[in-house]
Amino acid sequence: MSRTLGVLISGRGSNLQVILDAIDEGRLDAYVAIVISNKNDAPGLERARKAGATTAVLSHEDYDSREAFDEAVLGRLSEHDVEVVCLAGFMRILSPVLVRAFPNRILNIHPSLLPAFVGLHAQKQAVEHGVKVSGCTVHLVDEELDHGPILLQQTVPVLEDDTEETLSARILEQEHKLYTEAIRLVLDGKVRVDGRRAIIET
Ligand code: GRF
Repeated sequence: MSRTLGVLISGRGSNLQVILDAIDEGRLDAYVAIVISNKNDAPGLERARKAGATTAVLSHEDYDSREAFDEAVLGRLSEHDVEVVCLAGFMRILSPVLVRAFPNRILNIHPSLLPAFVGLHAQKQAVEHGVKVSGCTVHLVDEELDHGPILLQQTVPVLEDDTEETLSARILEQEHKLYTEAIRLVLDGKVRVDGRRAIIET
């Protein structure tokens, strides 16, 4: 497998930054061929440019359907020979167009212990539900939201006085450790998928 990544973002891009830094510092053997944002004001775009990565903005509002937007994204990823796609705060649900083009080669990071608290504001959901432990999950992307086979998870305790903000900050610290580790496993061919289970071969 080539080690060429495409990263899709919509906002802040702190997970993107960690990937770029890990590559720059020699901790992750990979190459970010393109960073695509569906928002032209995503701060993550500037992070990508500073790291010398190619960027593209494709606004979903310019397309008639989810599939048409995904075809355009797929076009860019293909142009750059992307092998593995990393969703890093990409706030769009993928259609089968993208999922089928990269079977078990799209990763997402989500700020909860899936399958708990899918969708938006996972940390707020955790605080409001009163769970004592939450965390983050890196999973392979399938055609359902926050659903595909789980690669890695990290727990984070929920404290009595946690707010959405304080919990989010502590989960984010763990996200930043987990994502590069998961990307490395996939690029190294260490992941075998058996139904819902992603088996890590050591
Ligand atoms: C992270 O919490 C990630 O888990 C979720 O969206 C957020 C993106 O943050 N999918 P950033 O843009 O990587 O800083």
